[in-house]
Amino acid sequence: MALDRFGRRIHYLRISLTDHCNLRCVYCMPEDMTFRPPAEMLQDDEILFLVRLFASLGFDKIRLTGGEPTVRAHVVDLVREIAATPGVKSLSMTTNGVLLHKLARPLKAAGLQRVNVSLDTLDPVRYHKLTRWGNLQQVWEGILAAEEAGLTPIKINAVVVRGYNEVDIVDLARLTYEHDWQVRFIEMMPLGGITDFQRSQVVSTAEMLARLEAVYGAVEPLNGGELDGEARLYRLPGARGTLGFIASVTLPFCASCTRARLTADGRLRLCLLREKEVDLLTPLRNGATWEEMRQLIVTSIWEKPWGHGLAEGEVATNRVMSEIGG
Ligand code: 5AD
Ligand code: SF4
Repeated sequence: MALDRFGRRIHYLRISLTDHCNLRCVYCMPEDMTFRPPAEMLQDDEILFLVRLFASLGFDKIRLTGGEPTVRAHVVDLVREIAATPGVKSLSMTTNGVLLHKLARPLKAAGLQRVNVSLDTLDPVRYHKLTRWGNLQQVWEGILAAEEAGLTPIKINAVVVRGYNEVDIVDLARLTYEHDWQVRFIEMMPLGGITDFQRSQVVSTAEMLARLEAVYGAVEPLNGGELDGEARLYRLPGARGTLGFIASVTLPFCASCTRARLTADGRLRLCLLREKEVDLLTPLRNGATWEEMRQLIVTSIWEKPWGHGLAEGEVATNRVMSEIGG
């Protein structure tokens, strides 16, 4: 079991399968993003080795992220191997949905359980503006394909950016009347080289709730108002699905954090919003043993920072989101 020095049990690993992406969302990476050479990135066998190691330490929940995880070569084979690793109970993916129309079925057959699909607006023009390269219709088909394949319950992730899509949360929330989905609104977090933009355009959960209540009337808190993972859950009056709010900036949930992240280049990132990382790839390539790697991970997890320092104005700029995977 992996514990940190604050007594938190860390058992949720988010693995960035690649820093590449087939979109260029304005809040995530610059349009002319440059990527590092593939040799510096985790290879398939290295990922699988680390998954076995983390699973042996009690990590039972894995989420594959990116960049965009579906653009990684052999993603379906990787999913199959990870799903079959003893100790892995939950395996999900965060994706932009662009390739889901093709991959939903094979991914489900390989053992993927669920997907979170990023969709920030239902307006095709604004979708293209926010993602720079995206086509809304294609992603919509991907979401339906995921539902049909049984990658459920479907969660939709919307990052809310002032001046881009704060008006769209009303339409996105309406999806929960027709679909048994969870539509989640995410406060934009400052990270990487575009933190001025991210900080000036953030929309708080309180403002999002007020906007929704102005249209739909009082929304009902679920779960006794308690956090469900990182989200606070609500339901619109009479809706089938639920709404989630991820208030990383205005109402941090660091106290109940259970996660660690593996970057595409094999660093253990202990807090999304802190720069501290531990290089796992170099010792792995230098022939460290299973026991040595295990010890390195245990000691690193123990040192997991308490939480982020956004309230004190501390931001992490050593990485953009696509390298860590959100
Ligand atoms: N703040 C919050 N969420 C972000 N994402 C990407 N960049 C940011 C940011 N700055 C989201 C994506 C996707 C997930 C991987 O992280 O929209 O849902
Ligand atoms: Fe790609 Fe996701 Fe970043 Fe958008 S937010 S550019 S889809 S990695």
